[in-house]
Amino acid sequence: MMYRMRTKKSTYSNSHIQEEKKDESENTTENYADDTVNNHDQSGKEDNDNIVMNAEISLTTLSEQSPINDLTNLEIQDIEGIGPTTSKKLREAGIFSVMDLAVAGVEDLAVDINASKESAASFIMAAQKLLRDSDVLDKEFITADTALKKRRLLLRCSTGSSMLDDLFLGGIETQAVTELYGEFGSGKSQICHTMCITAGQPIESGGLNSGVIYIDTEGTFRPERLEQISSSRNIDPVNALQNVAVCKVYNSAHLELIVKNLGKYIDDYKAKLVVVDSIISLHRAEFSGRGTLADRQQRLNSIMHKLLRISEIYNIAIIVTNQVQSTPDTFFGDPTKPTGGNVIGHASTYRVYLRKSGENRVAKMIDSPYHPYSEVRFTVNEKGADNVDEGKKSKKE
Ligand SMILES: Nc1ncnc2c1ncn2[C@@H]1O[C@H](COP(=O)(O)OP(=O)(O)O)[C@@H](O)[C@H]1O
Ligand SMILES: [Mg+2]
Repeated sequence: MMYRMRTKKSTYSNSHIQEEKKDESENTTENYADDTVNNHDQSGKEDNDNIVMNAEISLTTLSEQSPINDLTNLEIQDIEGIGPTTSKKLREAGIFSVMDLAVAGVEDLAVDINASKESAASFIMAAQKLLRDSDVLDKEFITADTALKKRRLLLRCSTGSSMLDDLFLGGIETQAVTELYGEFGSGKSQICHTMCITAGQPIESGGLNSGVIYIDTEGTFRPERLEQISSSRNIDPVNALQNVAVCKVYNSAHLELIVKNLGKYIDDYKAKLVVVDSIISLHRAEFSGRGTLADRQQRLNSIMHKLLRISEIYNIAIIVTNQVQSTPDTFFGDPTKPTGGNVIGHASTYRVYLRKSGENRVAKMIDSPYHPYSEVRFTVNEKGADNVDEGKKSKKE
């Protein structure tokens, strides 16, 4: 990994950064000519303004808690080589913070600010350098023992079932994108709903003590299910639901825009868990012809890589759900293969396959840099994802 964020809570409060920062930000030289921002950017910004996070209840109550993602004190103009003109163009392109710039994709940024790829890359690298110099990001090279110490500090969020958590060696990790794939009804959305509740719990109780952002592309998010899950777990549903910001997404362009602006929403909602349920359905529906496949894959690739960078830089857990390849009328092909080809799989840190097994569900770790190959059973009940009651093991299995 190119960079990894420190996971100690104190890291997220960057007051120390401001104090330590030397007065070295005088260099405001522009790297490229003073172009006007093109129409694409303007329309993008208007779209952006029109987006309303469909949060049922505002998350402002969380702001009294520790400033988990508060890195915004670093200003774009503190970046070497970026002066007022460039920072204005970046703002017009929806990039408001150093973090936004650090996670931007080179090609997207070049188009958005009407600059060459070289300029775009140099701005992104300068933003990353500032974050490294400020100790927000790791240095480019760290020794393996330091890397191990940092990994030990990463957070894990319970899925709601300790048996399922075991598959992840203790819960779904931050600094990673976890892909849940499986057939219709296999429990993907149920795990996501359950984690909306568990993520709000204190870290000692397997939570992330944080808000959640739920990006719903299939219209299957149900707030009343969150109410049921929290009540069944003796968690106050009023507080629990306040922690969750939901955004219903209607088309692939909207999804791309939400992902592009995700850093801002993560800050706004103090989120340490982002769910994209599902990552592929909109692109799959809109880019269905053969001729559009390459375009679709490239767009998905860009979304997935952006999510991966965000998970690392913000130290958050990202869950994406994905369908399996085959439909009931398909005889050929592996029915357990996720859709989206290699694009989703290559960018996911962990891939987990879910399937029904009688009344229960089975989750299998398919792809992981370090988890042993294994599979576990869990169930879905009023508490959401839950352990199988061994006393009444299904005879059907
Ligand atoms: N309140 C509930 N109590 C028990 N089981 C439920 C409840 N809600 C959903 N389920 C189970 O979850 C299944 C749907 O799983 P879901 O996660 O939505 O599927 P998908 O993998 O397609 O997202 C239902 O078929 C049902 O078995
Ligand atoms: Mg679903």
